[in-house]
Amino acid sequence: MSETRGKSLVEPLLSPLSADEKRAMQAAAELSLEFRASLEMMPARPDLRPDDLLPRFATPLPETGESAEAVIRRLAADAVPGLHAHAAPRFFGYVCGGSMPVGTAADFLVSAWGQNSASAKESPSVAVIEQTLCRWCLELLNLPPDCGVGVVTGGTVANAQAIIAARDALLARQGWDVGEQGLFQAPDIPVLVGSDAHSAPIAGLRYAGFGQQRAQRVETDAEGRICLDALDRAVKTCVSPPLVILQAGQINTGAFDPFAQAISMVHAAGGWVHVDGAFGLWLHAVPELRHRLAGVDAADSWAVDLHKWLNAPYDAGLCIVRDRADLVRAMTARGAYLPELEETWEPSDSTLELSRRARGVPSYAIIRHLGADGVREMVARHCALAEYLARQLDGIAGLNVVNTVVSNQVAIACDGDDETTRVLRHVQANGKVYPSHGVWRGQQIIRVSIINFATDRADIDLLVQELVDALNAR
Ligand SMILES: Cc1ncc(COP(=O)(O)O)c(C=O)c1O
Repeated sequence: MSETRGKSLVEPLLSPLSADEKRAMQAAAELSLEFRASLEMMPARPDLRPDDLLPRFATPLPETGESAEAVIRRLAADAVPGLHAHAAPRFFGYVCGGSMPVGTAADFLVSAWGQNSASAKESPSVAVIEQTLCRWCLELLNLPPDCGVGVVTGGTVANAQAIIAARDALLARQGWDVGEQGLFQAPDIPVLVGSDAHSAPIAGLRYAGFGQQRAQRVETDAEGRICLDALDRAVKTCVSPPLVILQAGQINTGAFDPFAQAISMVHAAGGWVHVDGAFGLWLHAVPELRHRLAGVDAADSWAVDLHKWLNAPYDAGLCIVRDRADLVRAMTARGAYLPELEETWEPSDSTLELSRRARGVPSYAIIRHLGADGVREMVARHCALAEYLARQLDGIAGLNVVNTVVSNQVAIACDGDDETTRVLRHVQANGKVYPSHGVWRGQQIIRVSIINFATDRADIDLLVQELVDALNAR
């Protein structure tokens, strides 16, 4: 053990950083820069598996400490070979943003500031920054300006929070106070969800006590969009106002539900529409693309990620609820020692957590850096690149685009599942680009998600070349 902290309990409260601690913080910045600089050269997927990495990390519990700088340097050296190039422009797997550098730098500040961001009294700057982020995002996403917004960890929690808020509001309208009376013996709330919904809102239904089996699955079309006649029939069978979950951006096809008609149908029955817009809601920020989601702004709640299309570092998303009172009633956990509800805009009123990091700050920095124009350009560029990819593949026998490209997702199937799997594995193993896999309408697909802030035409050309090479490498 060399220079560890906490050697003496009588150290002054505000002692400056030790030389070792300063070196550790500087090393973290240097190593982060090195990592980002090496992304271009990194294989898109790590060669090592968790079992290979275990000996590096899973040592016996260290009895004595080591210097802060040594910990940081060793952490980076041991971890980097087991990291995916998620932040690289040629990473097309899942739906992953690229942790934009300005947001990453702001994230360093967040950790250095060490703010408990639960309360505006405790951390006024963070509260104001996050409140501004929420206002900016509503404006960017073209949603009503007075919605309630919670800065949450991502799409899954955003969906869950909105579903909980919907549950409480729908039951309140039936004269039942969930907060006081709980859920047992509560009146029925029918739940309708498209049969191609993402697993995140389904998990949200479980967390909210609805049970996933109880939710009625509504038929969808070839692109995964909810069928209006099936929805109409389902709504007509509801014994009380339903919760209906729609989606902006189907994970395989990128498709959008027909919001205008679906929402007015559900509202006519007194129901609540929640939209899972984890990535796809960002198209609503772009005037020339907005018509693809026409009417989405009439919903009652929305889930959207910041770590996907805004390219914020993990973890960040927004739970947006039209009537802020519905969100706050479901989420606030004010104790006697916290300010009265009316007094301030409290971050913790709109999230499940009390103490938490200032996770909205990196997204604030990204929007400041890009401006609204920059955000719109990025989303529009990715959508245009997805169309470009589909055009490049058009006419290449054996690489079939199986979705209608309406956002940033492109689903590709080869001739037969075995061939699709072979081609995908070959591309992934080659390590230059990384699409991931999916299953769509019963067949294996190579799923391409174009969402990294730096992705441009050259990256798509490389992807096409890699797919063609894999196809020909029999
Ligand atoms: C449509 C959709 N909804 C929800 C989620 C879950 O979001 P998160 O991974 O941020 O929790 C995803 C993630 O890919 C998604 O694509």
